[in-house]
Formats: sequence, C-alpha cells, structure tokens
Amino acid sequence: MAARQGVIARYAARLPITPATPRITLFEGETPSIPAPRLCAEMGLGSLHLKFEGLNPTGSFKDRGMVVAVARALEDGSAALVCASTGNTSASAAAYGARFGLRTLVVIPSGRISVGKLVQAQVHGAEILAIDGNFDVALSAVRSLAAELPVTLVNSVNPHRIEGQKTAAFEIVDDLGDAPEVVAIPVGNAGNITAYWRGFREYFAEGLCSRLPRMIGAQAAGAAPLVRGRPVADPDTVATAIRIGNPASWQGAIDARDQSEGAILAVDDADILVAQRDLAMVEGVFCEPASAASLAVLRAAVRDRLVAPGTAALCVLTGNGLKDLAVASEGLRAPVLVASDAASIAAALGLR
Ligand code: F0G
Repeated sequence: MAARQGVIARYAARLPITPATPRITLFEGETPSIPAPRLCAEMGLGSLHLKFEGLNPTGSFKDRGMVVAVARALEDGSAALVCASTGNTSASAAAYGARFGLRTLVVIPSGRISVGKLVQAQVHGAEILAIDGNFDVALSAVRSLAAELPVTLVNSVNPHRIEGQKTAAFEIVDDLGDAPEVVAIPVGNAGNITAYWRGFREYFAEGLCSRLPRMIGAQAAGAAPLVRGRPVADPDTVATAIRIGNPASWQGAIDARDQSEGAILAVDDADILVAQRDLAMVEGVFCEPASAASLAVLRAAVRDRLVAPGTAALCVLTGNGLKDLAVASEGLRAPVLVASDAASIAAALGLR
C-alpha cells in the first residue's frame, strides 16, 4: 500500500485545481470499504461493503470536499470560510480553517446539532452563531451573506465540495476492482449522492469500471422532500445530520436516481436506530444515525424486491458513531457496579 497522500495529491488530475492551488491536506480520504459478511448473508446479497467515512480526520465525509474548497479559497485570497450546518460541515470547515489559517464562521440550527459536532467546531476555534430556525433557513442566510462579503461559502453549493466528494466513488472502484451494483447512501442536502454519481460516471466514461451502480438514496421519513416530491417545511428526525427539508442539490439527487435506475426512499427513525445498533453489534462498525439510514434503506429495498438476491452492494457510512453519543446511548444498560476482586467480577459475569 502506497503512503497516504490525501484527496488532492491522490486525485489531482481529476479535480478542479490549478498549478497555483496549494496542495493542502489533513490526510482525508483513503477510507476502507469494509466487508460486512453477516449483514450480507442476512439480506442474501452477493457481497456487501461498508465505505466507512467516519474514519476521515474530522469523522465524516465532509473532509473530502472541504480540502478542495479550502485550497481554492486560499488560492483566491479569501479571508474566511462560512457555512450553515447540521454539524459535520461545520466541524470540517473549522478544522481546515484552523490548520490553514482562515477564520471560520458557522451558522447552526439552535439546539438541533449533536453536542459532539458543536464541540468539534468550538475546539477548532470557529465563530459560531445559532439561529431559531432549521438548516434550510440557516443555509439561505449564509448564501445571502456570502453573496455580499469576501468570504467563501463552503456548503455543498460550492462546486469544489462536490468535486472533492466524488473521490469516494473513485476509491471504491480502486479498492474493489469495479463499481458495486448498488450503492445505498443517506441524502440530506443531496450533495453527496450527486458527488458519488459523478465520480462513478467519470470512471465509467474512462473505462475504469465495467458498470454503473444503481444509487439508492435514504431520507428520514420526517425529512423526505425528495420522496414526497416537494419541500418539507418542518423536517424532523433523530438523524439530525439529515434533518433537511429543501435540499440544495435537489436536481442532482433526482438525476442520480433516474439516470442510475435507482430509488430514493424514506426510512423510519426506528429502522435507522436498529440499523445503527446492528452495524455496531454484528459488524463492529459504529456510525452515526444518519449514516445508518443507508443500511435501513438497503434492507427496505431488498424486502421490496428493488434489489435482487446475489447483488453486489455497498452502504456509505458517512459519519462516525462517536459524533452523537446522546442518541446512541439511549436504551443501553449501564455498567454493573461490582467489587474490585477477580472473584466478584467473575461471579458477576457468570463465569463461575
Ligand atoms: N450523513 C451525514 C453524517 C451528514 O452529516 C450529512 C450532511 C449527510 C449524511 C447528507 O449528505 O447533505 O450531501 O446529502 N450533513 C450536512 C452538514 C448537511 O451540515 O454537516 P448530503
């Protein structure tokens, strides 16, 4: 295995960078596609891999696009990064802003992002404002702000974000030797499904994979504008990362769905939480709730015969489980308090 390079150095020729673009990195990308044999057997699939984006430097896929957006911001002499966020974009922007010397300004929906993500942005020194409104309102506000001021908007409406994120599709093909037949992926603001579809198409056009995957998008039932066919004014879900009612990359998601002959389906919060627990208990991979929506939607698609037995499938796990411990810890048994001698511990474990 070659030494780690980061997204820009590894895929420079396929990214919108110029000779003047600084080759920055926090060693994002190069995440594993982990085999998931037991869930594969449960669903009767031919193969199942988990693209674990929780292993990126700030714990989510956002770093792939952020590094490209920040490199271009530096090249353009920008003074600051600005974003609205359900948490992960702001954590990523704050880390790259800190490392590469840019102010980072963040607008979040008050009380609706996980503590872990908020603390990430805070420890990296971002300047954070909360609004009494949801992500869609926050995004619209920062879009107006960035149109008027010399700051760089680093939400996925910044085209360099999508370009960086498409490298995840390249890595899947590079690692597995071909594209999967089905890719299941959570959909919030819809930048990531747009990016994956672009990445697969670019590799396919160059003959680097023999097929294109069907893209199966997952929206939370309470925040499913793409499934309903119209914006949702008051989106709600336990998966706060995808609590979005009017996705900016709406058309990109529809194109990915239709061109790939895929689907975008709604999954219940309860099924998302079961999927999160199963991934952790059965495959040893701990992802955040929004990420687990990809397994929940794949299960639904298999059950409804949208995905046939024997299919080669992959779930994109977009963020690390440590991001949102409040949700993950609900319903867990607290450790049993015992005396500190071996006999007491063995007895409590039923070992003698
Ligand atoms: N999974 C996670 C963990 C996310 O943080 C997000 C989006 C998504 C999936 C959906 O990706 O928006 O490209 O469709 N989080 C954004 C944020 C909105 O602000 O961190 P998408």
